[in-house]
Amino acid sequence: MKYIRKNKTDYDILKAQIEGLIEIEDFYLPVVSNAGALIMENLEELNWAGFYFTEEFLGLDKKDINKNTNAIYSAHDHSNKERSPLDLILGPFNGKNACVKIALGNGVCGTAVKEDKVQVIKNVNEFPGHIACDSASNSEIVLPIHKDGKIIGVLDIDSPCLERFDEEDKAGLEEFVKVLESKVNWG
Ligand code: SME
Repeated sequence: MKYIRKNKTDYDILKAQIEGLIEIEDFYLPVVSNAGALIMENLEELNWAGFYFTEEFLGLDKKDINKNTNAIYSAHDHSNKERSPLDLILGPFNGKNACVKIALGNGVCGTAVKEDKVQVIKNVNEFPGHIACDSASNSEIVLPIHKDGKIIGVLDIDSPCLERFDEEDKAGLEEFVKVLESKVNWG
């Protein structure tokens, strides 16, 4: 089903809402938890909105956490890639349970990190290596998040509609991520 817009997202309101929440508490964990909920509330036709963070940002690259986790490294990843500090770990989200770890360069999220570039995918079924956490997803937008110029994670949003995200959504969500990047206490 191709997306037919019913309501326009007011990205100014979304931005004001996240700024208001950050004024109350700027630590990243509550902020990103509420940020996903705000996106779910403000954008129509979504089935998943949340965050992945890099092992490096979470300090997990220096810990031996992967000893017994090859199974969850991803049921979707059979490439036996070397571990990277930029591999992604699931963070706070809204939606169905999702893939726990995504290797650098894998799927839409791992590609966003590898290329350090926003990915707007009109039809995920045509994206080579797309990781289908929720089979209902048909389009997706993934935005890299930076701290001090370095990628620390991504904001990932899925829709059951084809072609859900346009240039206006991209611009609005880029502004939203800029607020997070500049105002959140990332620890
Ligand atoms: N589709 C993503 C995986 C994460 S889920 O959408 C929540 C990807 O291909 O990287």
